Amino acid sequence: MIILAIETSCDDTCIAILRIRNSELKILSNVISSQVKLHAKYGGVYPFLAKREHQKNLPAVLKRALNKAGNPKIDLVAVTAGPGLEPCLWTGLNFAKGLARDWDLSIIPVNHIEAHILANFLPKISKISNFKFLISKNIFPAVCLVVSGGHTQLILMENIGRPLFTTYYKILGETRDDAAGECFDKVARILGLGYPGGPIISQLAKSFAGREVVPGRLPRPMIHQRNYDFSFSGLKTAVLYHFKNQSLQMRKSKKYIQQMCNEIQQAVIDVLICKTLRAARDYNAKTIILGGGVAANNELRKQFKEACLKRNLKYLVPPKDFCTDNAAMVAIAAYYHWLRGGTKNWQGIEAKANLRLK
Ligand code: KG4
Ligand code: ZN
Repeated sequence: MIILAIETSCDDTCIAILRIRNSELKILSNVISSQVKLHAKYGGVYPFLAKREHQKNLPAVLKRALNKAGNPKIDLVAVTAGPGLEPCLWTGLNFAKGLARDWDLSIIPVNHIEAHILANFLPKISKISNFKFLISKNIFPAVCLVVSGGHTQLILMENIGRPLFTTYYKILGETRDDAAGECFDKVARILGLGYPGGPIISQLAKSFAGREVVPGRLPRPMIHQRNYDFSFSGLKTAVLYHFKNQSLQMRKSKKYIQQMCNEIQQAVIDVLICKTLRAARDYNAKTIILGGGVAANNELRKQFKEACLKRNLKYLVPPKDFCTDNAAMVAIAAYYHWLRGGTKNWQGIEAKANLRLK
């Protein structure tokens, strides 16, 4: 069976082709056309510009994905139906509907958050994995943290299967305002660092690491509240005031910017780790699963690994390329839905900006 998956929920136009044969799983192609340069001048994603670019890019991305995969016969179309930017979601969905109509195929609508979680079970590009062993039952219950530019959610995942391949998700908590990645992006804009902020802040924090801390501690919002929710807009405001209170010379100092980046990154990591570990303890989780663009952060990956090791928790995080948006993760999520009969006739499928994981 060969799945063609489309992802356009934010600013990346992505198409991937995944082959499942006997018990082998292989990514035949995984094409991503990034709009980062376009949105960089606005310091964030501009939805209608993103939609226009998706419309423009999709046919060429499809051609590249099919060519790379050796033009196989497609059996199933998968597409992200939400959550995300509604105009962008509809663009991908309408494109998927066109393909399903032309090729006489069914569509599997996929939840973007679930795709970020299941990215953990993708084989490496060009490698074949035996999918029977991809998801072992003894990782459950698991607490999943999905952290990206649009989302910050803690999710309890109780199983994937029984009856075969049914998923069980419960949203334990989420951000009440900005997502963690959005916080990095906005703070980077305040400090004049460019877009997307996450990778830039991570790089600058690394060049600071280990030296004296001058700027003072930033807040760790909601860290002591006994719930699983997050809030990052206060952190952004704290950075704004800190920055404004510095002399012009200090604001331009490389050392100050590096120190701030290190402190911002650590504040976000402290909150994410503390809340995730609390959920893991409260729900007797065996595993912590990370996903989403912010999970590409080296320091976050390292500190989560150490924390899990200390507490005897299993720890899963996708390779960095599968943390940020891609369509391979949409394909594997669609595959699990297909196994439990989740195909839909394409006419009735709708995109929803606030689609909830169930
Ligand atoms: O998952 P993603 O590609 O798109 C959404 O679904 O939102 O995540 C993009 C977000 C951006 O906010 C970006 O700044 C952040 O992920 N990001 C990072 C890193 N790489 C990307 N944040 C921290 N460290 C990184 N290395
Ligand atoms: Zn995403």
